[in-house]
Amino acid sequence: MGKSIESHLHEDRVFQPPKEFSRKARISSMAQYRRMYKESIAKPASFWGREAKELAWQKPWKKVLDWSAPYAKWFVGGKLNVTESCLDQHLDGPRRNKAAIIWEGEPGETRVLTYQQLHREVCRFANVLEANEVKSRDRVLIYMPMIPEAAIAMLACARIGAVHSVVFGGFSAESIVDRLEDSGATTVLTADGGYRRGKVVPLKANVDAALKSHKGVKRVVVYQRTGAKVTMKRGRDLWWHEELEKVSASHQARAFDSEHPLFILYTSGSTGKPKGILHSSGGYLLGAYTTCKYIFDMRDEDVYWCTADVGWVTGHTYIVYGPLANGVTQVMYEGAPNFPDFGRFWSIVEKYGVTIFYTAPTAIRAFIKAGDKFPASHDLSSLRLLGTVGEPINPEAWMWYHEKIGGGRCPIVDTWWQTETGAIMISPLPGCTPTKPGTATLPFFGVDAAILDENGKECKADEGGKLVIRKPWPSMLRTIYGDARRYKKVYWSDYVGRYTAGDGARRDRDGNFWIVGRLDDVLNVSGHRLGTAEVESALVAHKAVAEAAVVGRPHEIKGQGVVAFVTLREGVKTSGRIEEELRNHVGKVIGAIAKPDEIHLTPALPKTRSGKIMRRLLKELVATGKITGNITTLEDFGVITKLQKEMKK
Ligand code: PRX
Repeated sequence: MGKSIESHLHEDRVFQPPKEFSRKARISSMAQYRRMYKESIAKPASFWGREAKELAWQKPWKKVLDWSAPYAKWFVGGKLNVTESCLDQHLDGPRRNKAAIIWEGEPGETRVLTYQQLHREVCRFANVLEANEVKSRDRVLIYMPMIPEAAIAMLACARIGAVHSVVFGGFSAESIVDRLEDSGATTVLTADGGYRRGKVVPLKANVDAALKSHKGVKRVVVYQRTGAKVTMKRGRDLWWHEELEKVSASHQARAFDSEHPLFILYTSGSTGKPKGILHSSGGYLLGAYTTCKYIFDMRDEDVYWCTADVGWVTGHTYIVYGPLANGVTQVMYEGAPNFPDFGRFWSIVEKYGVTIFYTAPTAIRAFIKAGDKFPASHDLSSLRLLGTVGEPINPEAWMWYHEKIGGGRCPIVDTWWQTETGAIMISPLPGCTPTKPGTATLPFFGVDAAILDENGKECKADEGGKLVIRKPWPSMLRTIYGDARRYKKVYWSDYVGRYTAGDGARRDRDGNFWIVGRLDDVLNVSGHRLGTAEVESALVAHKAVAEAAVVGRPHEIKGQGVVAFVTLREGVKTSGRIEEELRNHVGKVIGAIAKPDEIHLTPALPKTRSGKIMRRLLKELVATGKITGNITTLEDFGVITKLQKEMKK
């Protein structure tokens, strides 16, 4: 492989952290970073043991790490209730009446929940769950809009030791079915709807549709957000507000083992079936807590805003667990960035005086396209730190973010991590790391990242290879839920004892990591992972489709767009509307984010003689309009001419 992963990006601009920022930052010099990094790698037990003492434990651990590759146990023997670090421990001091969540709904209303109020709501809802016989280790599926109750639902599960599995509100009924089947959840928490771009997303109706084909769910608790009319099934569906009336507001937090499962979050892999990434309690919480503390340099006086949805891992770690464990005030926003126009985010920053802002490159590109007048007409001077996550940020988008949003004075932390890693792994520390547009720079404490060639040798500077992590870290995934074999195969089989991230990368001469992108058949659409196999399975499930192949192509806003090549079944009439029908079908099966940007109908797909679809050729065709790559293994050469003609249409 080695040379086959190429990066053509050369970036010489270097930005030093502003002196004013460094002076106050927790880590204020590279010497301090290097010293701590060295300790974290050489003596992980003493480094992480010290950090973990800042969390609330009910029983101290006996051993920091028990590593039997590829299985890690962190803080062995320790017991905690994750929600005590996020809530209870703030109630004895000045944070008691501090805003934990300042929420803004898309229609414009505001709610503020102090730490004390949030604690109370979590306790009440934990009592609701227990009253409905949800027990420790039971799985609970959460399908909610971006309202405080989404966080309350997650924390209430954590409080009673139940395992939450949040499904992004943009996913379809069929995606809910897959996740219910895999997780075995018997309780669903949802809402009558949520607002998105002025419309009500019919969350409850989607749950109803899912439960027509999946029968195992005993309880659906429905929060009334929009007042939209929904059907409530007797004996199964309950109103959230009615259940709350029946319970008390006090709830004793039981202690759970440090390795007690906290949540399952599904993410795309290179097969059609999403992987249920399982995270556990103590180590995950520590990863969330320390990365917020050092990378976002969170302070009591900060107003922090992460624009992700709780349905993604970013929402888990950087809306719920990390910020709350740090006792920070955060903004939570329900709706779309461009509702009613592209000024919405900037009006929120101005209104609440946001100081730390964390978003995705795809959003930044959309803002650039919308025009500078939107940020320019708002006072963004409260901002002191910016972050990005989800995909490599194009240097030009980085520069725009730096100048137009950060006013040239805010450090940018480009944070590389994954659903599997639980927390940020590679990122600048804002008070010390020199940044270059487009690189996530250096590994965080305890992260032994390296780039290896196919023989397992570390690549030289500027040579492309596979990104691996050579040591266990506290917030690492523990397994793929119900599929230990897949866990070992996907993450631990490329090199013995090394975690393979599935990303290609290189290090420059200063040691900075430049992430090139996924090496497997996974696309990155608007910062979200989407397996090409998932889209293919959805297409093939349509009655008109015989076969489908899906590849990515560069997309101005989304980063990558979805291109599908489809062979229709014999005798299907192409009425001219079939493409639109297939797009909608994919939207229905997976969710709107998976809808192909282009569909090309073709009488045949390029295949090897053994029948494997040669996606490599399709990728080339999509990128360049022609195929010049090696086609010696191709079964039918005529296919190429037909495809090239189709692409010219
Ligand atoms: O390819 C990398 C890309 O997103 C993948 C992880 O996706 P997911 O599990 O959905 O988590 C997204 C939020 C953590 C990675 O394998 N990625 C994420 N952050 C970056 C990135 N690529 C480059 N630079 C980043 N900062």
